[in-house]
Amino acid sequence: MTAGASDRTADRAGGPPRGRFITFEGGEGAGKSSQLAHLAERLRGRGLDVVLTREPGGSPGAECVRHALLGGAAEAFGPLAEACLFAAARADHVDRTIRPALERGAWVISDRFYDSSRVYQGDGGVAKEMLRLLEAVAVEEVRPDLTLLLDVPALVGLDRAGARRGGAIADRFEKEGLAVHERRRRAFLDLARAEPDRFAVIDATQSPSKVSEAIWRNVQERLAVAPPIEAR
Ligand code: TYD
Repeated sequence: MTAGASDRTADRAGGPPRGRFITFEGGEGAGKSSQLAHLAERLRGRGLDVVLTREPGGSPGAECVRHALLGGAAEAFGPLAEACLFAAARADHVDRTIRPALERGAWVISDRFYDSSRVYQGDGGVAKEMLRLLEAVAVEEVRPDLTLLLDVPALVGLDRAGARRGGAIADRFEKEGLAVHERRRRAFLDLARAEPDRFAVIDATQSPSKVSEAIWRNVQERLAVAPPIEAR
């Protein structure tokens, strides 16, 4: 029998059942980081081993690549080479952090994963086929069980991010940014529509507590979460 999605969570030769892999995606100001931390706490409350990680980064090698990518040093290489660097960082992250954690039965929550490459590098002009090829090489069989897309209109997200920085959105550069952010938002929503079994779209314009409840509902409904320890 060939290995398929149905036996990915099965016991492997006496080892623990594979953990679950949850990714968070979304644009600027969607509130990913606080929601990620909150979900991790809830899952730990159910006695689960939870690994919180992020992209680009999440392993020592990938954190070095993150530095080059976000610090601007990689920009001169152009969009395709940048996409390759994101994929190289992802391969290391998968091999050294995500896969080992899933194999020991941990639940992994990653702040961004390959959907960010599909959207950001796709928007940067790298062909979809090329991105899917890089993705397949980087992740092999390690694909998210659930992707939580925290969706906010670009203006709301940028406003929130601006408020955090203590400034309003006004200058030309930021206005140009708005169209780009809105395009990326549409691209994330298109991905969600194409894979409704994997994605849950969360309306992140709601209050943080409502967003958190919507996330928890989706995690419980879509992934089997054990009951609280005291109820067992
Ligand atoms: P980061 O500082 O982690 O912030 P946030 O996730 O809150 O936006 O920035 C990561 C940036 O890298 C973000 O602008 C999205 C971008 N990115 C890509 O372009 N491609 C990718 O594959 C990933 C994972 C991130």
